[in-house]
Amino acid sequence: MQNNNVLVVGSGGREHALCWQLAKSNSVNKIFCAPGNDGMKDSAELVKIDFTDINKLIEFALSNDVTLVVIGQEAASEAGLADACIKNNIAVFGPTKEAAKIETSKVFSKQLMRQANIPTAEFETFNDPKLARDFAYSCPKPVVIKADGLATGKGVVIASSNQEIDDAIQNIMIDKEFGKSGNSVVIEDFLKGQEVSTHAFCDGNKSVMFPSSQDHKQIYDGDKGPNTGGMGVIAPVPWVTENHLDAANKTMIQPALKLLNDLGSPFTGTLYPGLMIARSDIKLLEFNSRFGDPECEVYMRLFEGDLYKVLYDCATGSLSESDVKWKNEFAATVILASAGYPKSSHKGDLISGLADAEQIDNVVIFHAATYEKDGQYYTNGGRVLAVTATGKTLDDALNIVYKAVGYISFEGMQYRTDIGKRVQQIG
Ligand code: AMP
Ligand code: GLY
Repeated sequence: MQNNNVLVVGSGGREHALCWQLAKSNSVNKIFCAPGNDGMKDSAELVKIDFTDINKLIEFALSNDVTLVVIGQEAASEAGLADACIKNNIAVFGPTKEAAKIETSKVFSKQLMRQANIPTAEFETFNDPKLARDFAYSCPKPVVIKADGLATGKGVVIASSNQEIDDAIQNIMIDKEFGKSGNSVVIEDFLKGQEVSTHAFCDGNKSVMFPSSQDHKQIYDGDKGPNTGGMGVIAPVPWVTENHLDAANKTMIQPALKLLNDLGSPFTGTLYPGLMIARSDIKLLEFNSRFGDPECEVYMRLFEGDLYKVLYDCATGSLSESDVKWKNEFAATVILASAGYPKSSHKGDLISGLADAEQIDNVVIFHAATYEKDGQYYTNGGRVLAVTATGKTLDDALNIVYKAVGYISFEGMQYRTDIGKRVQQIG
């Protein structure tokens, strides 16, 4: 298997990490990334096509002998890119629009969990605001209210009083803050514990697990401030055991794959369960249908083997556990974000220190939103850079990643100084 051309779809640090790992594969000839960003030119040829412009992406794939399309960005799955690839006989790593509903509709996802007996918070679904409100009033507080559709991470409200319930229902279902994503809601019990994630490569039937990981969603240290797409990740999480991962596979991922198959929508790609763990009790918060960002950045640093082969085998229903290997090390990512993030972002700030940071052993910097002009890099969005490091211990990985971060600066740069600290306290 050589001389293959791959098209990666998306533009963030996640896609840079995928291109970087694909570039190590002996099976790969050319890597294209649509639309990508300037910072990933080291590993991919950029293609100026938006990730939801399905017709143009297919046209490009067909005329450039692309043997595998890899969907990074979930909006491309929702727009039907995988369906179009299948129709045109192009192998695709990523779910069809229908299978992606496991992420894109929380109502669908929770009903699937119930039907497949997957351990999750007790819930009800509503499309009538009054019934939703009355039910939420009757629940023990806090109670969790979730908009059905995608809402850029802002569609979940943890309500501690009837007033907060009223506000949430008003914003989501009546004022339609997230458009039609708020036509229905899930109302569910609040779960206690620590949030942890993992991923699984899936080929429609089989699943092969990744190590555990932990994201840090809030913008400020100590988990303060508004939620972001993710400000830093460590993997694996030292206290998460093989038993936890085994439970995630056997009681969540496998039953979901089986049910999706039975429904006629086999799932191909990465299933990413968000878990709530309280000692040995493990429950599913949500399914995502893609690699996490910045989870993908740590996972690609730990992956060993031929990524092209694994992704292609997923796409063609022939995934083999023995092809998926992980380094026996720890990895950490720290996100450097631009001024104003997550409310807004700032473009055009000159980034300095990248070359010095990249000199450090075991450091790789993935670009999330940068552009290049006259040999210099500038900020071009909210999350700008994903600085990653690996080490024999978690402390090593964290020390190295923060040493690298120390070299980099741009106007208004924001980052968390406590990535990986939470888990060490629990150890
Ligand atoms: P979701 O998009 O469903 O993962 O929800 C976003 C975030 O809300 C999660 O990462 C959790 O921090 C929180 N959350 C969601 N559901 C619950 C729940 N049932 N109990 C406690 N926290 C939750
Ligand atoms: N880092 C969280 C996500 O990708 O959903």
